[in-house]
Amino acid sequence: MTAITVTTREGVEHELRPQDGISVMEAIRESGIDELLALCGGCCSCATCHVFVDRDPVGQLPPMSADEDDLLESSSSRTDRSRLSCQLPVSAALDGLRITIAPED
Ligand code: FES
Repeated sequence: MTAITVTTREGVEHELRPQDGISVMEAIRESGIDELLALCGGCCSCATCHVFVDRDPVGQLPPMSADEDDLLESSSSRTDRSRLSCQLPVSAALDGLRITIAPED
């Protein structure tokens, strides 16, 4: 099963073992971490599921779409590690991924 480590805004680490096929955003919310608003429900139109990728051991994150790039551009906390977690489908390719929830804009 895929292991993903999520660090909250308070610096608390959670190790998730989500099922394949759901998004990282859904995995975070289903784990009980309530810091992601995910207002659009994963339609790539709100940017409230912003995370920073701390470690991508397999290097298999899907490429960023133009829509994701545009939305992240509206975030004051964007860095070169920024992704929208609803655009990252869980699969074995993400095993060992470490992410931190971005500050709220
Ligand atoms: S949940 Fe809205 S962009 Fe990800």
